[in-house]
Amino acid sequence: MVEAAVKVSAAFPATKLVTVDPTSIDDDVILQHVVPVLQAGQLVALPTETVYGLAGNALDAAAAARIFQAKGRPSDNPLIVHISHMNQLQRLVAPHALPQPGSLIQTLCDRFWPGPLTIVFPKHQQVPMNVTAGLDHVAIRMPSHPVARRIIDLSGLPLAAPSANRSGRPSPTSADHVLHDLGRTREITEEDEQRAFEFGRGTGVGCIVDGGECSVGVESTVVRAEDFQVLRPGTVTLEQLRQIDDRFELYGATRNVHKNERSAEEQAQIDTPSTPGLKYTHYAPSVPLILFEVISPASAFTARITSYIQEQIRKNPSIRIGLIRVHQDLQYSELPQENLEYFPLGSSTDLAAVARGLFASFRALDEKKVDLIVMEGVLENFEGLAVMNRARKAAQTVVEGENGTA
Ligand code: TXA
Ligand code: MG
Repeated sequence: MVEAAVKVSAAFPATKLVTVDPTSIDDDVILQHVVPVLQAGQLVALPTETVYGLAGNALDAAAAARIFQAKGRPSDNPLIVHISHMNQLQRLVAPHALPQPGSLIQTLCDRFWPGPLTIVFPKHQQVPMNVTAGLDHVAIRMPSHPVARRIIDLSGLPLAAPSANRSGRPSPTSADHVLHDLGRTREITEEDEQRAFEFGRGTGVGCIVDGGECSVGVESTVVRAEDFQVLRPGTVTLEQLRQIDDRFELYGATRNVHKNERSAEEQAQIDTPSTPGLKYTHYAPSVPLILFEVISPASAFTARITSYIQEQIRKNPSIRIGLIRVHQDLQYSELPQENLEYFPLGSSTDLAAVARGLFASFRALDEKKVDLIVMEGVLENFEGLAVMNRARKAAQTVVEGENGTA
């Protein structure tokens, strides 16, 4: 029973794949194959409802160091700590900053936890400095994925876990994506760990828990409650946060502000992100992505994308272009279909579905070895704000909407 849950792929023989069915969790599998790894300070990639995470003991500096080595992640990009019960906050948050009944933070926890919301707190002194990349705040969330929660419960550890992609790649929404980025072709040595960054792709991970595909698909919303800043948009939407307190705003206020209408001060704020990870290239497929912001009417949007693609085909008649489609009403009948590889990604009326499939669409088109990816943008409200935030970071070029606001 327990053995049947463990597989090894031929391509990555030094990484174990452990299957755990989220609808009927087998504790024995977790106790035998996952908990001992975490308790030894080693890493496990595991499913959360947002994306797969690369988890290690958040109270162990050596485990945190391994996370950075495994992904090839720059050490100035802090990690999110995952918990399964409110009482675990006591080991992570400075005593004076624990949520008080009736406070905004308590309201956020009651409303959105467990779920895809990360809250930044003043840190407890026992949280290692490398977890927070030297900051005196720690980012914490309580995931809703039953497998992630059970692993936290059974290991008794708060788990530091960034997305389980190789640094710079799209976040993984399936165990296969993790294997592709972090699977090990051979056992690694201590020396490899020390030389992780020369190792090229990071040292990878020895154990991946497969709990199926992630239902949210983009990473959690990150908020700093003390000044109502949304540091990273997600599927806990700005609109939902504003229902709780209308002072919440997107950090940097890039939303709906055209670049040349921003004040120098606003632009400077955007250029020096407070969430350190934001300054790196992220989520990128291996071929250029051209993102088209929405314009209306649909006929103008179609014409703009069509003429861009025609131009690419003129330059290279054998080019293969991946086209990520979101809007049902856009038609590309004028284009030579043999140059196109369509990827239907939900619909503009179901933004949650667009978010769910976004990173998987980048990876799927990568695998199809297209030369270029073109994506139809969405309006930047509700989950569309998170979708466009990730797509912009992945894009080589963003073709602005008529007034930059779509
Ligand atoms: O949904 C998620 O949040 C996933 C799953 C695995 O939980 N995790 C994730 O982690 O996306 P990561 O490391 O890929 O992104 C963490 C983000 C980064 O942008 C980082 O800068 C920000 O959270 N962050 C972490 N600690 C912070 C802090 N103390 N202050 C401000 N931002 C912080
Ligand atoms: Mg990430």
